[in-house]
Amino acid sequence: MPDIPEYRPQFPTERPRIAVLGVGAIAQTAHLPAYEKYGLEVVGVWSRTPATAERARDSFPSIGRVYESAEELLADPEVDIVDLATRPEGRARWLAAAVEAGKHVLAQKPLTQEPDTIRPVLDQADAAGVRIAVNQNARWAPGWRLATRLVEQGAIGEVVGVTHLHDKPLPPIAGTHFDDVPHMLLGDYLVHWLDITRCWLAGKDVAWLRASDHRVPGQPVTAKNPWSATVEAVCGDGASALVRVVGDVRTRTPSCPYWIHGTEGSVRGSLLGRDFVELERGGTTTRYATEGQWFVDGFAGAMGELMYAIAEGRDPYHSARNNLATLALVDAARTSASRDGARMDLGLAL
Ligand SMILES: NC(=O)c1ccc[n+]([C@@H]2O[C@H](COP(=O)([O-])OP(=O)(O)OC[C@H]3O[C@@H](n4cnc5c(N)ncnc54)[C@H](O)[C@@H]3O)[C@@H](O)[C@H]2O)c1
Repeated sequence: MPDIPEYRPQFPTERPRIAVLGVGAIAQTAHLPAYEKYGLEVVGVWSRTPATAERARDSFPSIGRVYESAEELLADPEVDIVDLATRPEGRARWLAAAVEAGKHVLAQKPLTQEPDTIRPVLDQADAAGVRIAVNQNARWAPGWRLATRLVEQGAIGEVVGVTHLHDKPLPPIAGTHFDDVPHMLLGDYLVHWLDITRCWLAGKDVAWLRASDHRVPGQPVTAKNPWSATVEAVCGDGASALVRVVGDVRTRTPSCPYWIHGTEGSVRGSLLGRDFVELERGGTTTRYATEGQWFVDGFAGAMGELMYAIAEGRDPYHSARNNLATLALVDAARTSASRDGARMDLGLAL
């Protein structure tokens, strides 16, 4: 088997210390388990609901302390990185407060629903010399990270098309706060799929995009958001992308298969079940068994890249500024769906 490009989480020798602001569901089920697994130091946590923060400390005894307030967390000189795990509402205000306090930030996705509120904070962060990254942890999901490395190495030539199928049950949406988000699949859940697609189409520009979402047979009336969503995008050079969620798939073998077709070969794989990556080129097929999972190794990868960027004084691969193109794709998808699948002409550099 040829050498496999490194796809696992990487960390610098000196590891900055983390505090989690908004230690809710995803922080407790993915962020903290990832940091525990990779031995990253969490100096403290805060939630606006004190019992939630206490529950986090009970589950993760290595957490240093529970802060009384977000202000106390931000003022703590022991904290190098604020892991902002809140929902997107109020994101710009939290980012500005963290920048003001001189902290680097890893902000949960979606970065914001209002990009215009974020831009001034990014300038302030640059001036203050602090890094803001977005927790697009799926970029480090082993089944996607290895594919990205292969594409970057030119293993399949130039990318011609990216195709994703969501061949698994949906996560719980009905009855959760996610069901109150308009066009939830397009505006929140599929952010990861749109983001990785643009990583694989890097250097191209999206000429147009259209998206639709609709209710499906069997969807209970209590589920407010549509359970099916499709996004189709075409680049200026003719390369294209398709992301398709059929509904709440009934299967004993859940997976998220994808294909990246190139001028000289293909990468295919899957994640969130039956994880693998396969490279086909020049009549040879190489199948890689990947180690780790999106949950939780991808979360460690996103934090590790921010730590490396801080150590090396550069922008992280998942910087907030880089994320603006992902947000533009998400916004276009939502807008298209709200206009019955109208074609959105974008001319958006990826
Ligand atoms: N793969 C992933 O990366 C992934 C998976 C699931 C959720 N998420 C994202 O994580 C974010 C949080 O989701 P969750 O399900 O953990 O939510 P949650 O409500 O369980 O947790 C959010 C935390 O932030 C606090 N919070 C929420 N809004 C706040 C505000 N305006 N000001 C101060 N504190 C606030 C809550 O009290 C809680 O501590 C969402 O943006 C969601 O899309 C990401």
